[in-house]
Amino acid sequence: MHYRTLCLIKPDAVERGLSGAILDMIQNSDLKIIAMKMLRLTQAEAEGFYTVHKERPFFDSLTRYMSSGPIVAAVLEGEDAVARYRALMGATNPADAQDGTIRKRYAVDVEANAVHGSDAPETASIEISYFFSALDLAGWPA
Ligand code: RTP
Ligand code: MG
Repeated sequence: MHYRTLCLIKPDAVERGLSGAILDMIQNSDLKIIAMKMLRLTQAEAEGFYTVHKERPFFDSLTRYMSSGPIVAAVLEGEDAVARYRALMGATNPADAQDGTIRKRYAVDVEANAVHGSDAPETASIEISYFFSALDLAGWPA
């Protein structure tokens, strides 16, 4: 199946100048970037994005970190894009991530782990709408 998924390059990776290298890994794995922007979230906006985690002990730290600096948001498209981008990202904790993954190469720790990726097609469409309007995506066939 052809899918879209949301990619975020998190503040730790943007700050270290890794956006280009990460986008290069994405494009080299045959995922197409169909929309992209750089922005900085407020903590309230980060809380809205990560609302599924609001009961977790790391929620306050996560949302403070995600609003600590600019991020890059991108919509990726391709065959099995959701699962393939999750595989390219690697495990949440870089200590568990496989060689060749973005997190193995660039993550600092379990929180500052360089990138976000949607975990299912349904969450992908909700997350894409959080950052991008229909007009932002209007140039591409649905
Ligand atoms: P993401 O949503 O960012 O793509 O990451 P994920 O699916 O691999 O991990 P998830 O369980 O959804 O957690 C979301 C983000 O919360 C931070 N986190 N911190 N301190 C901790 O134990 C902990 N666990 C998770 C990470 O930034 C993780 O990506
Ligand atoms: Mg997640």
